[in-house]
Amino acid sequence: MLTEGTSDPARPWPTLAKIVMEDPVGDPTPPRIPQPRARSYEGAITPGDSARYDVRFASRASGIVSSVMRDLMSLSERPEIISLAGGFPNTESFQRAIFDDVAGVIARDHLTSGLQYGPTEGLAELRELIADIMGQEGARAGVDDIMITSGGQQAIDLSIRTFVNPGDTILAEGPTYPGAVPSFTTYEARVEHIPLDDDGLRVDLVEEAMVRLAAEGRAPKLLYTIPNFQNPGGVTMSLERRERLIEIAHRHELLIVEDNPYGQIRFEGDPVPSLWELDNGAGWVIYLSTFSKILSPGLRVGWVAAPAPVLRKMNLGKQAADLCSSTVSQRFIIEYMRRYDWRDYVAELNVIYRSRRDALLRALEEEMPPEATWSRPAGGLFVWATLPPYLDTTDLLALATDKHEVAFVPGRGAFLDGRGGNSMRLNFSGVPEPMLTEGVRRLGVAVAEMTDLHRMLGGLDGDDA
Ligand SMILES: Cc1ncc(COP(=O)(O)O)c(C=O)c1O
Repeated sequence: MLTEGTSDPARPWPTLAKIVMEDPVGDPTPPRIPQPRARSYEGAITPGDSARYDVRFASRASGIVSSVMRDLMSLSERPEIISLAGGFPNTESFQRAIFDDVAGVIARDHLTSGLQYGPTEGLAELRELIADIMGQEGARAGVDDIMITSGGQQAIDLSIRTFVNPGDTILAEGPTYPGAVPSFTTYEARVEHIPLDDDGLRVDLVEEAMVRLAAEGRAPKLLYTIPNFQNPGGVTMSLERRERLIEIAHRHELLIVEDNPYGQIRFEGDPVPSLWELDNGAGWVIYLSTFSKILSPGLRVGWVAAPAPVLRKMNLGKQAADLCSSTVSQRFIIEYMRRYDWRDYVAELNVIYRSRRDALLRALEEEMPPEATWSRPAGGLFVWATLPPYLDTTDLLALATDKHEVAFVPGRGAFLDGRGGNSMRLNFSGVPEPMLTEGVRRLGVAVAEMTDLHRMLGGLDGDDA
């Protein structure tokens, strides 16, 4: 039993010793330690007071655009909504006993160092393990080529921060990863989108863009691409296109940022060599990846492999951003990987994801209008669907969440030039099959309602619908 109050007026809550003494039966629910109540400032500054900050915000801050995905995160607090919007891996499969074991090892053998700061570039033992992981994907890298980051997200941010001045042009797929958009806007990049098709990035158009932009005096600083199971497009760049892209990079001296969080999340087909590997040490590729999809996004550990001069600059950028990535998370990964075969876990995830993908594709087949199209990814977490051009998915999202309790990422969030208005990203990894089916059913109803509305307003004659 816990009794409130102590004899010390400055500390009117029970001490830990007192709680332990008074809880001799070992109740599995830990006693709640009453905390001194902090004064709340809630409501003291209203949105109407923004003027005083507006004049002070850096122009950089005014231009930052939020990622639609992040905006939609708040929907996860509304349990009635089936969210196909997140990019959530299925963390339910991770066994509690394994977590306990690894956490126990850290508590026993690495407590002091695990709770301590670490080197900015990350723990050498983990960088060695990452070199092995990359090797298994055919991407050869040495320990010194690698820096640990706080998730793959920080690796993207550091890449853009290191190379992009305000107004610089960069190339990115269209659609691109919505989570990269705030980095592009923070550093004031001008993004030229290069379209995708079923074989990934239209590499033929990269060369065209390089020539055109050079003639305009704005040769791109870099190309940001996700060759495997592109987020959000769901497509994979063919080997032929990868080889051609590397050839273009070498000829035009184009720096490529290859973002590869999903290479291991493959349910079908054979792996395709990475751009890093095809570059063969020529120094035109910066490779990014993460433990988020092969282990856990909650650990917030990713990495970058880059040529030495680039890595040195990114290390300085990371020092400014966060000194080092979580040491305890890095230690967790090291001790986990020493004791368990991470590939077994990924294989288990891929079985689940494959059947969820199939459920999503089946439901789309049943519920979407005949003019709709969508990708059929052989891996990754997402399907990209495109509706008839008269349907706007930003409007559809409002109807879908408010009335039909289903959410997705509207396509505009994956472009910086206003395109994507009739497309959407659908996630299948984080949603159990019956909910996927029900979610797409609800989406189908919302699409039908929007189509009717459009028809009523005279936008369609009977045959077009
Ligand atoms: C293409 C891409 N890059 C980077 C990230 C961010 O990864 P992390 O969660 O490790 O920060 C994601 C996450 O969904 C992603 O899809």
